Amino acid sequence: MNEHANHTLTVGLGERSYPIEIGHGVLERLPHIIGELSEGGRTAIITDENVNAQHGDVLRAVLDKAGIEHCTLAVAPGEASKSWSVFQQVVEELLSFRLERQDLVIAFGGGVVGDLAGFAASVVRRGMRFVQIPTSLLAQVDSSVGGKTGINSASGKNLVGAFHQPSHVLIDLDFLRSLPAREFRAGYAEVVKYGLIGYSDFFDALCEKHEEIFAFGPMLETAIAQSCQAKAEIVAADETEKNKRALLNLGHTFGHALEGFTSYDGKRLVHGEGVAIGMMLAHQFSNRLNLCSMDDVQRVETHLKAVGLPTRIQDIPGEQPSVETLMSFIEQDKKVSRGRLTFILTKGVGQAYIANDVQAAEVAGFLKDKIGS
Ligand code: GLY
Repeated sequence: MNEHANHTLTVGLGERSYPIEIGHGVLERLPHIIGELSEGGRTAIITDENVNAQHGDVLRAVLDKAGIEHCTLAVAPGEASKSWSVFQQVVEELLSFRLERQDLVIAFGGGVVGDLAGFAASVVRRGMRFVQIPTSLLAQVDSSVGGKTGINSASGKNLVGAFHQPSHVLIDLDFLRSLPAREFRAGYAEVVKYGLIGYSDFFDALCEKHEEIFAFGPMLETAIAQSCQAKAEIVAADETEKNKRALLNLGHTFGHALEGFTSYDGKRLVHGEGVAIGMMLAHQFSNRLNLCSMDDVQRVETHLKAVGLPTRIQDIPGEQPSVETLMSFIEQDKKVSRGRLTFILTKGVGQAYIANDVQAAEVAGFLKDKIGS
């Protein structure tokens, strides 16, 4: 145990188990971590231009102080960097830096950087170890943990990639201070998700103490640690999403359809906002199927609204989607088998489950009522 980390968790995957360290100032621990993983090793920092401009020097100073050799590859910020062309560029640059298999890749940034860097690490020299240093709330509570890495293809998001677990996840809360309020709030939707899928006590605690989270009080660290703990348990139980890990997709089928409808225009809707509306729709749809009570639906809505997250399709500014448009995205996202879809539904707060037999026509009827067309 070190003097900085207030929480250290483990993702239990046998020989591939790894720690998640969470706290203020834990970045200082990086030289020690690198020393343990790869004594004398060199490092390649993969980041984006924004994170590099804001925090790159801090990270490099920590490495310089410890005499650790490093190079930095900064890609353009945004989802467009999860492309074949940027991936190729990153892989070639890693190779031209002459990284050896014992060296380390550092994924330093939000979800895009983590997915891209992790995927590059999975293929360079047939697999290199990498450390995740997530700087957004969304990446800290979700994408940096669990080893899903990849890029987008012309056929859809995240369709090319690998399960490649990091060797260490270092979550320094100090990075969150410079996160725009909207990004912080959107990341918080994924925190709420853990409460909704299986941890109703956690949801109650979030309802009670959310103001402390948004004010950077001690509950922020607790909420991140509990989110990571929930994710670690789920990943350890089902690393490659054969069953239980799919629960992490609560709200994501509706959310991805809404993101697709806006052509991933972050000015109108960012991922976490799509997830917030999607989680709301998943509860309302479950209520319509007599699975969950109206009281549960209202509890979710009250909390999401209390923190300023959108809860209705109509909260997306601009043109509204048609049922047909949303259904085409939903059917693309999900395998439709004889008119049936797999959805994450719920019997109430903390009681989400995987439903394999949802009728596409039921979903369309529900959306028609919500959209009013
Ligand atoms: N973000 C969902 C998962 O890691 O499975």
